[in-house]
Amino acid sequence: MIAELVIKDLHVSVEGKEILKGINLTINKGETHAIMGPNGSGKSTLANALAGHPKYEITQGDILYKGESILNWGADERAQKGIFLAFQYPMAIPGVTVANFLRTALNARRKATGSNGSGKPISIPEFRKLMREKMALLKLDDVFATRYLNDGFSGGEKKRVEILQMAVLNPEMAVLDETDSGLDIDALRVVAEGVNALIGPNLGVLLITHYQRLLNYIKPNFVHVLVSGKMAMSGGPELALQLEEKGYDWIIEAEAAK
Ligand SMILES: Nc1ncnc2c1ncn2[C@@H]1O[C@H](COP(=O)(O)OP(=O)(O)OP(=O)(O)O)[C@@H](O)[C@H]1O
Ligand SMILES: [Mg+2]
Repeated sequence: MIAELVIKDLHVSVEGKEILKGINLTINKGETHAIMGPNGSGKSTLANALAGHPKYEITQGDILYKGESILNWGADERAQKGIFLAFQYPMAIPGVTVANFLRTALNARRKATGSNGSGKPISIPEFRKLMREKMALLKLDDVFATRYLNDGFSGGEKKRVEILQMAVLNPEMAVLDETDSGLDIDALRVVAEGVNALIGPNLGVLLITHYQRLLNYIKPNFVHVLVSGKMAMSGGPELALQLEEKGYDWIIEAEAAK
């Protein structure tokens, strides 16, 4: 079996400063991996590097998606081929409605993969049905379809719409960067249920979070701790409980002693 995503000795610099210092991680289809770690340890840098953000320069190592190096793929190509990033800080795009944005993105993805009848664009009625179904899944009011993307959305609404995008685009590798931050208790449950509805044998998930709470809803197969740009520790879901109890100091000290 070819792994969905293989990150090999990845070094990433931002504006000349090395942030990630040799990350190794393999995610198979059907697996959910959680990444935790202190503020500034490089979690979002990893997410951005995977998505192909041009500001994040890969200076060493490789990223393989379904066995193929993607370092030369632009962010658009990665997205079209099924790599999805839910942003920690989603940006507003005034003038572009949620529905138009999603239909354009979905059609680009269909065209690139040749899926759903040789990559033809989705018909308007079919798209409306898909949107309605996915908006209901995330308990989003229909009015969001016609609002400008993230423009004036509350923090929690932005996070819900990130997962709406995931639901519509049906990725094969999803990176969720602190999708739980800023959500109220009910919204956290709705978003987690939305993600769980998408988890299945064809999806790999990388879940970045600070809170064990989310992992009560979305059960990871593996938990990794990123400290100062390196994977300091990996384990099962119990590691998240340990972190909740003990914090990061013991891991930072063990890492420093290596
Ligand atoms: N575009 C950028 N320009 C300058 N510095 C950056 C940029 N992106 C990341 N960094 C720096 O890289 C380091 C890692 O940042 P990153 O956002 O990856 O951390 P994080 O683990 O996601 O933290 P948090 O838990 O606070 O979200 C930080 O010191 C940050 O200031
Ligand atoms: Mg971050």
